[in-house]
Amino acid sequence: MAIRSLTPAQFAAAPQARALLAAWPFGREALGDPAPDLALSQLAGAAGGAVWEGEGAWTWLAAWEPLDFDSAIFGRALGRLGLLAHLASWPGAEAQSQGRDLLAAVLDQAWAAGREGLYLRLPARDLLAAQAAEAAGFRLMDVSVDWELDLAQTPPVPAPPAGLSLRPWQEADRAALLDLAGQSFCDLGSYGDRFAMDPRLRPGCPEMYRRWLANSLGGPQASQVLVLAAGTEVAGFITLKLGAGAQDPAWVVLNAVTPARRGAGLYNLLLAQGLDWLARAGATRARVRTKVSQQAVIRAWSRLGARQTAAWLTFHAWRDDRAADNQVREEKK
Ligand SMILES: CC(C)(COP(=O)(O)OP(=O)(O)OC[C@H]1O[C@@H](n2cnc3c(N)ncnc32)[C@H](O)[C@@H]1OP(=O)(O)O)[C@@H](O)C(=O)NCCC(=O)NCCS
Repeated sequence: MAIRSLTPAQFAAAPQARALLAAWPFGREALGDPAPDLALSQLAGAAGGAVWEGEGAWTWLAAWEPLDFDSAIFGRALGRLGLLAHLASWPGAEAQSQGRDLLAAVLDQAWAAGREGLYLRLPARDLLAAQAAEAAGFRLMDVSVDWELDLAQTPPVPAPPAGLSLRPWQEADRAALLDLAGQSFCDLGSYGDRFAMDPRLRPGCPEMYRRWLANSLGGPQASQVLVLAAGTEVAGFITLKLGAGAQDPAWVVLNAVTPARRGAGLYNLLLAQGLDWLARAGATRARVRTKVSQQAVIRAWSRLGARQTAAWLTFHAWRDDRAADNQVREEKK
């Protein structure tokens, strides 16, 4: 029984990798179908990783890769632990300690390769991996849910109240849209995902969302952006992305209403108009990913008949936390 560091090529070529990925109880939840093939292609693009090798079989596998876009925005060398597969289903002493030791080894590897922080997203049922991650120094940063709606079911689209209109974005909206995105998603009182909740990332949060929205205005992050307008004022927006293939769902990606206009039913309106745009563009189902704490979003989707399809726990680990832990251990000796 031992931990082995592996290169991406070694991972992808090993028959034990396919066997573990096929037997991984949360593979489908984590990656969708067909989990082993998708995971193997992900492994081939990893920067590094390791496995826990038992007698003849691998019981844990973890792989990470750098995130260049995030690193540039936050000014820190960031990465993602994109794959954390295991054979056991539920928390238990041996499986947990194997997972903890494997994750500690993979973090050391990533830190030695120059990464400062790694993020990890797990299906919310995977408490074994979550507890192993906590034991290795990862901290919970947010809890997300995915909701999906069959677009054949949607009720008639309500008309905007007097003084408000809904229309595709225009160049003149750009500055107000970027300001609203940068403000809405980084305000801990109103949203607060991992980019805002993590004090190390918080200073870069507005810039991250501003860039995301900028890349949605005629760019690759959205197929359309609709604006809720009060004359020349931007009162809200919704960004919409069609699926890449006919079977893929469309996504409602970013949406916000200005603080002064919240609580007046305007999200219901934005959402209905956005879903109508997606349906007219050929989408048959639409998804949103939000935080479990975003009750207005969940309420608006649920009242249209949507259902929850997934739940996620997101963790961060930092190199300087590990250095501080090691220092405390040294001082206690
Ligand atoms: C989330 C947000 C877009 C909601 O916009 P809004 O215009 O205030 O929402 P609405 O007034 O249309 O409310 C939608 C539904 O949720 C309900 N709701 C609103 N706030 C709620 C709360 N805190 N708890 C429970 N239900 C709530 C409303 O009553 C309404 O349901 P109803 O029509 O059955 O009465 C807005 O608060 C916002 O911009 N927040 C910051 C950014 C954000 O979180 N975006 C979503 C990311 S996925």
